[in-house]
Amino acid sequence: MAEAIGKILYTEEQIRDRAIELGQQITEDYAGEELIVLTTLKGAVMWMSELIKHIDLDVKLDFIQAGSYGSGTTSSGVVKVTKDIDMNIYKKHVLIVEDIVDTGTTLGYLEKYLGDRNPASVKICTLLDKPSRRKDESLVIDYTGFVVDDLFIVGYGMDYDQKYRNLPYISYLEPSDVDSL
Ligand code: IMP
Ligand code: MG
Repeated sequence: MAEAIGKILYTEEQIRDRAIELGQQITEDYAGEELIVLTTLKGAVMWMSELIKHIDLDVKLDFIQAGSYGSGTTSSGVVKVTKDIDMNIYKKHVLIVEDIVDTGTTLGYLEKYLGDRNPASVKICTLLDKPSRRKDESLVIDYTGFVVDDLFIVGYGMDYDQKYRNLPYISYLEPSDVDSL
């Protein structure tokens, strides 16, 4: 692994503490309701696994895979769904759990894609937000773990070319590392 990967932005403990806070907030906001937690594959899996431990509601899990990224670090801007949801979300409350919102293109697309199926509501809970890169200014993020600078983030589920997802903390690649990898 590249040297920069040792740099820790957020530790496992900091992430768990934030998951506890957001889990409590989500529990209050949806009190008495059933919630479909819809995780975006693959990057948000670790975050979802921590978050749902702290949501005290009737939770059902589903997964969706969509992407605007190729194998590198720059977005192509074209989103497609490569693994669709299994559940019927008609009149259900859906919480999309995402790893990181960058340009917002992916979530903007997913909100519309899911909205066409007439759920009761669609909200977003992201571990990280990189607002400096936003292109879709209309995107509303309901729950944010941490706001990060314009860095290429890896670890805690997030990858560079499918690597580093298993790091138990959030780290980043220096631009020079990205070029040399
Ligand atoms: P967006 O459509 O530009 O918002 O990109 C969102 C998706 O790109 C995220 O769900 C991630 O999977 C991926 N992504 C964006 N920024 C990063 C990053 O810094 N590290 C790893 N993946 C990223
Ligand atoms: Mg993602």
